[in-house]
Amino acid sequence: MKIAMIGSGYVGLVSGACFADFGHTVVCIDKAEGKIEALNRGEIPIFEPGLDALVAENVKAGRLSFTTEFSGPVSEADVVFIAVGTPSRRGDGHADLSYVYAAAREIAESVKGFTIVVTKSTVPVGTGDEVERIMRETRPDADIAVVSNPEFLREGAAISDFKRPDRIVVGIEDERAREVMTEVYRPLYLNQLPLLFTTRRTSELIKYAANAFLAMKITFINEIADLCEKVGADVQQISRGIGLDGRIGSKFLHAGPGYGGSCFPKDTLALVKTAQDNDSPVRLIETTIAINDTRKRAMARKVINALNGDVRGKKIAILGLTFKPETDDMRDAPSISIIQALQDGGARIFAYDPEGMEASKAILDNVTYGNSPYDIAEGAEAVVIVTEWNQFRALDFQRLKSVMAKPLLVDLRNVYTPDEVKRHGLAYASIGRGTSAMVVPVSEAAE
Ligand code: UDX
Repeated sequence: MKIAMIGSGYVGLVSGACFADFGHTVVCIDKAEGKIEALNRGEIPIFEPGLDALVAENVKAGRLSFTTEFSGPVSEADVVFIAVGTPSRRGDGHADLSYVYAAAREIAESVKGFTIVVTKSTVPVGTGDEVERIMRETRPDADIAVVSNPEFLREGAAISDFKRPDRIVVGIEDERAREVMTEVYRPLYLNQLPLLFTTRRTSELIKYAANAFLAMKITFINEIADLCEKVGADVQQISRGIGLDGRIGSKFLHAGPGYGGSCFPKDTLALVKTAQDNDSPVRLIETTIAINDTRKRAMARKVINALNGDVRGKKIAILGLTFKPETDDMRDAPSISIIQALQDGGARIFAYDPEGMEASKAILDNVTYGNSPYDIAEGAEAVVIVTEWNQFRALDFQRLKSVMAKPLLVDLRNVYTPDEVKRHGLAYASIGRGTSAMVVPVSEAAE
């Protein structure tokens, strides 16, 4: 199968490399010359475990290539994927579809023979209809079928998610697309893959409903965590206690500083807008968004409380900046609001992240970056775990204690248990663990 992938960003690059690995011939196209030149030199512009090796292997095998040239690869393709960005439009929260529609126009000008055009970008319900309208208007003679095939990739686990998906959703309006899309995903069939064909609008909505549900699930456990702190219960045990119920499921029940990233904040907002426009508000999701927004700054309050209500002039060391581990992505990361709120309170912020410091420099002002947790902990009055990178899971507490001005660990991801931290003589605050979520003073902790 010949595939053209329009947009070599996160989704396009991962999908393109995986399709090539399935044995298809894939050309990834992007307008950004610098990006394509880098890719052709073997440099991968994003951090995704395993992606560089996968790209190198498939380029070498002649199945994967990168170009800024549009019409050649599109005219030869059996299937053209649209994987361009759909950022939140400034001001109104609607998804900005201008890149999708521009791609549709350009594809229409170049297609030859029967071609499947697939939107992989996350797009609001009805976008497929508009893509089809634009293409037919641009090239009334073109033989095309417009399909929706949303991605469900988690950053940091995108390749395994692509190769071992829970399900693949394909929304079609033209029966001919069923056969071609089955062929595209055939290499996964050995694994008895659940390929779900729906209408195009249904498929578009499945993506939003899935992300909104997950965002809601995280937000639910975060609120329960707050309640735990008030009534003296343990949210970790509650997650386990409810998650073992098969109807609930144990995933996405880990309490933390609020969800961030490139998908949940943007997709929940877009779903709310679509629902409002159609006079069918999704109030659970409206509330989810509001709770998550306030939660991020509330996390700064937790740090301030742990420092006796005052952070003025105090040095605070932040471990982890990205919205989750194994990515360099800072989009809507909780660290941004937390750091800004601490700075508003007068704190001096030092930070360390294994992959996120470059991106962070463009977003946050007045942050001093260091080379390791111990480096930034020097003279600090609190160390705050904001993102649960593996290297923060086995901190050398004695070393931390020896360099800090005051030994306090605020663990916003519940990486540790109160007992183990206290045993090492550090004061400790975490999320949703009854009274031990409150700070244990150093004097008591040291005993
Ligand atoms: C998400 C969806 O999982 C994916 O299916 C979709 O296609 C894109 O959006 P991603 O944004 O990469 O993927 O990250 P994910 O692993 O889902 O985490 C999202 C956010 O939720 C992170 O900030 C994470 O820290 C937070 N989270 C997740 C929690 O706070 N608790 C949890 O239990 C799970």
